[in-house]
Amino acid sequence: MVIPLAIEKSAGICTMEISRREWLRSTGVWAGGATLAANAANVANAANAANAATPAAAGGLVASESGVLADVLDYARAAPGHMSKMGWEYISGGAADELSLRWNRESYDRLRLRPRVLVDVSQLDTRVTLFGREHACPILLAPTAYHKLSYAEGEIATVRGAAAAGVTMVVSTSATVSLEEVAQATTKPLWFQLYVQPDREFTRALIRRAETAGYQALVVTVDSPVLGARYRETRSGFTLPPGMERANLRGLKTATGGHRATENTIYSALLDPRLTWKEIAWIRSLTNLPLLLKGILDGEDAVRAVEVGAAGVIVSNHGGRNLDTLPATVDALPEVVSKVAGRVPVLVDGGIRRGTDVLKAIALGATATLIGRAYLYGLAVGGAEGVARVVNILRREFEMAMALTGRSSIKAIDASVIWK
Ligand SMILES: Cc1cc2nc3c(=O)[nH]c(=O)nc-3n(C[C@H](O)[C@H](O)[C@H](O)COP(=O)(O)O)c2cc1C
Repeated sequence: MVIPLAIEKSAGICTMEISRREWLRSTGVWAGGATLAANAANVANAANAANAATPAAAGGLVASESGVLADVLDYARAAPGHMSKMGWEYISGGAADELSLRWNRESYDRLRLRPRVLVDVSQLDTRVTLFGREHACPILLAPTAYHKLSYAEGEIATVRGAAAAGVTMVVSTSATVSLEEVAQATTKPLWFQLYVQPDREFTRALIRRAETAGYQALVVTVDSPVLGARYRETRSGFTLPPGMERANLRGLKTATGGHRATENTIYSALLDPRLTWKEIAWIRSLTNLPLLLKGILDGEDAVRAVEVGAAGVIVSNHGGRNLDTLPATVDALPEVVSKVAGRVPVLVDGGIRRGTDVLKAIALGATATLIGRAYLYGLAVGGAEGVARVVNILRREFEMAMALTGRSSIKAIDASVIWK
């Protein structure tokens, strides 16, 4: 069987053909027919689990049956066929009833666009500047844990895909490849995401390591004193498979094994429930890297972040994975933007699967967006090429949306793009 993988280049589309078995081997999921049979059940659930809030997404395998993966939702439907059920449940799942997970998408779907016509859109300028560095487009890769669950080379494949697509990857503390090895695999700038560890000396050393390896920004995740009630992980018995480790945490006894709290406590050994604003000030004093706080939804918290010296805030509900019934991030965005009042950039993640989502986020005041699951689907399906392809699909959709709403530059994308 031949899988056509359309690899988009800036000047058009070329098609690469590899055999299905070769492809599966390269993803690390090929272990004979049994693996595929087991994964068939995952595929059946994929439309739902891929946050299928739109009728198009609920159509099951229709698009992928042709073998052509045209959009991010096609990748979402194809991804579970390329990984273990446990891995799929881990990346696609949310907390409790998964309402925030769904709302993240539904809120984007509900927003309508107001086009302006007869504008010269023959040249589109999608560049944004963050902390003195230019990004070709307002899309970054959000920090996500355990990429080896999706693809055998893990974060090495992701960073190559990010470089190919020209976007910045935020490497997770919970990566399955060390931050140094990820940095060695690219010549492009990287950001590091920090989960402050209960061992403060270890945390201090981790920040120093990121600086030494050349990371250009530090993203401290502040929405996770504990993890949420992730029942898909419970039901699938999530634990790191043998041979996988939290490579950045080598030296701590939490480097291997489960991340979930045991039944009789809500606390996870990998997270610090004592983290407060005091520690953020401490981290600020340790590094000159731009510091971003990730996981802010409340306007007053955003103000406090600026006061404590954050160079940016990321509006996020952790992809609906922690506290269920938090609002969609695009609904929380305007309050944060208004309170921050331009003092630092406001970024947003959660539910972004379309270029129009990026346009809407920018219209509501975001400087840039981050994608999480979208690129993990690409990673699972096609490694570095899959990551690059997903980013290119989103970029292309974003550019189309700019052209079709008559906005030729980022600064022309203001609130008037949203149909009121
Ligand atoms: C599988 C997975 C693992 C994640 N791991 C981390 C992590 O290690 N650190 C972190 O700050 N956020 C983590 N997140 C949250 C993402 O950074 C981001 O907020 C979220 O994925 C955005 O939503 P989206 O997946 O709908 O794009 C994770 C999300 C997913 C889906």
